[in-house]
Amino acid sequence: MQSNHSLPVDPDRLLAIAQKWGTPTYVYLEKMIRERCRSLNKIFPDLPVSWLFAVKANDNPHILKIIADEGFGFDTVSYEEVLLCLRIGTDPKDIFYTENNMTDAEMHGAALQRVVLNIGSLGRLEAFCEAYPGNECSIRIKPDISDGHHAKVDTGNQDSKFGIRLDLISDAVELARRHGVRIRGIHAHIGSGIQEPENLLAEIEVLLKSSTNLEDLEFINFGGGMPIPYKPGEKPFDLDLFGELASKRLRAFLKSAGKPVKFFFEPGRWVVGPAGILLTQVNTVKDQGRKTFIGTDTGFNHLLRPALYDAYHGVVNISAGTGEAEHTYHIAGNICESGDMLGLDRSLPESSPGDYLAILDAGAYGMTMASQYNRRALPAEVLVTDDGHHKTIRGRKSPEETVDELLRETGLLHANTDETP
Ligand code: LLP
Repeated sequence: MQSNHSLPVDPDRLLAIAQKWGTPTYVYLEKMIRERCRSLNKIFPDLPVSWLFAVKANDNPHILKIIADEGFGFDTVSYEEVLLCLRIGTDPKDIFYTENNMTDAEMHGAALQRVVLNIGSLGRLEAFCEAYPGNECSIRIKPDISDGHHAKVDTGNQDSKFGIRLDLISDAVELARRHGVRIRGIHAHIGSGIQEPENLLAEIEVLLKSSTNLEDLEFINFGGGMPIPYKPGEKPFDLDLFGELASKRLRAFLKSAGKPVKFFFEPGRWVVGPAGILLTQVNTVKDQGRKTFIGTDTGFNHLLRPALYDAYHGVVNISAGTGEAEHTYHIAGNICESGDMLGLDRSLPESSPGDYLAILDAGAYGMTMASQYNRRALPAEVLVTDDGHHKTIRGRKSPEETVDELLRETGLLHANTDETP
């Protein structure tokens, strides 16, 4: 047994992908993504709840199309994400743009595209009201509720940079009223990888209460943050229980509101996290005295979470048969920094150069946070389709193409001659 990790897909299938496509490669499971979307779609059967996928978790357009096909809209946080969703055919009314230190140009772009603009500061609200009197928007508030798997992704706490302070909501309302701007919606997001589900319920409470200030209220957006288990033994988020508790509260709110109000949630990680695997090949096994290192052909340039948040991702040696002796390894990347570790003190079967490893739960915030640090190419991305086929959904650049790309972008290689001046 390898550290109690269960693969969401047959290891032979992963091996076949690694051998055919090479490594590093992100693999996504369409069936699982669809099933997870459907599980969410089921938890509020009798309420006007819609789901938005947080594009920042995974922005491969093929993945976005699958999720859109399951009836989801999109939560975007940059003008580029907005454009991406529009380009894959999403109706602007199903695209929420939650701004954060947005520029004027981005604001004008969002207004032109007619997406739902969710504004998180009084200064930006004022700029919007002055530029677009008589228009409409939504506001993001800071609920002063702290959660998230790491301090770096805790967005709702008192000292967070996000959202309008609770005591300034009335100023926002007054500002909008003066310019004839309708505040149609209210939003908050307390953090990613929520540790205490009660905090989500507490946030719902704050939003419901704050929404009573808004006479043009049409929707309330409760954000994302639903966690997934990464470590063996971690409990999955109890979706049904959450659905039950939240439903009770939302039903009561609708009764007292006396007008139709829609609700949104915008999960990212929960939808795609477990449905993505990063495949890498071992090229080095090295005894450093106190620790034995497995060296791989990927690193924090491709999966930043362990280095940035000390995040845990399960690692399985898919080349090694079962029942072999377990060894304890540090799993290292090929980036020239000592913090480039993908897993520490992991129990794996004896591993050798040439073996393939599967890094689990990498479907969210894997590829979207990848970089070309050390000038390495990005991983390829492969989809295991609903009908069991494999499809490239993003190709890999060769080392030569990767270098040429930099030279071209910096004006040192001319596209038609491929010669450096
Ligand atoms: N809505 C808003 C406004 C957000 O800022 C986020 C995530 C989400 C929804 C989706 O959160 P989720 O359901 O995925 O937890 N890179 C970090 C996560 C950063 C999340 C930032 N905001 C990680 O790898 O853990």
